[in-house]
Amino acid sequence: MAFFAKHLKKNRNPPDLFLCSFQPLMIPIPLEDQFEDLLAKSMRGLHLGETELSERTGVPRDILARLCRGEFCDEAALLRVARVLSLDPRTLTMAASRVWAPRPVSVAGLEVFHLPYRDMKVNAYLVWDPASRKAAFFDTATDHRPLVAKATSLGLSVEAIFLTHTHNDHLAALPALAQAFPEAKAWSNEAEPWPGTTNFAEGAEFAIGSLRLSTRTTSGHSVGGTTYVIEGLARPLAVVGDALFAGSMGGGMVSYEDALKNNREKILTLPEETVLCPGHGPLTTVGEERRNNPFFSAEFAA
Ligand SMILES: [Fe+2]
Repeated sequence: MAFFAKHLKKNRNPPDLFLCSFQPLMIPIPLEDQFEDLLAKSMRGLHLGETELSERTGVPRDILARLCRGEFCDEAALLRVARVLSLDPRTLTMAASRVWAPRPVSVAGLEVFHLPYRDMKVNAYLVWDPASRKAAFFDTATDHRPLVAKATSLGLSVEAIFLTHTHNDHLAALPALAQAFPEAKAWSNEAEPWPGTTNFAEGAEFAIGSLRLSTRTTSGHSVGGTTYVIEGLARPLAVVGDALFAGSMGGGMVSYEDALKNNREKILTLPEETVLCPGHGPLTTVGEERRNNPFFSAEFAA
């Protein structure tokens, strides 16, 4: 489509902001990861089993096992574990106390779909330009029907489906969604191509009506994981897939180091008010994650 083939000119004037009469439903999505998940992900990423972590921290195995089960049984032990795992002791303690969740956030022009996949839930997103009604989906999750129903009820013209990565939970409904919107072109990162999609290189820019979209490769969880930065709504958005979760991050299945580095350099450097749209769990913001995410908060505290 010419619409998407056209890359944006750098000196383009920013578009007007539009207020939309639709108020997205506030869905109380729970955190994807709890304290014990944070420990498990960092231990896996650093290739540390319980035995070695016990030796490195001096925390007895039985205490460590209880922490790894999610029991906040010994604060001193937790602080030693946090140091060895390079997690922020302050915010890891908050996670262990189960007192933190990101403040609810909504943006006109953004709809969240939270759909079941096996014993978990996965998110897909619909983003549209309220003026032109042009729209794009980000991932498809597992059931095209609520996505089609929402876009249809809003009278949107869906022009693209962007994949954050190619794990099955995020694109299971792609064939049916593509069939429902035959004009929509499906896109994936050239580092992680998928059949039936057109590939782009990192840095590619697109438009959704007057909204501007740019791509950043945030690999680590997957080889070509992509973050889509969208500007033109009341707040900037970043659809991050499984790179980052509220208070946590996706598992660094390809490279834990790359996942940390990309999150730090390509997501958490976005403006503080940027709304982050993760593949699992609730919406959050760059500011929330800089302050409260145990993987990153220590370095942003200074
Ligand atoms: Fe994934």
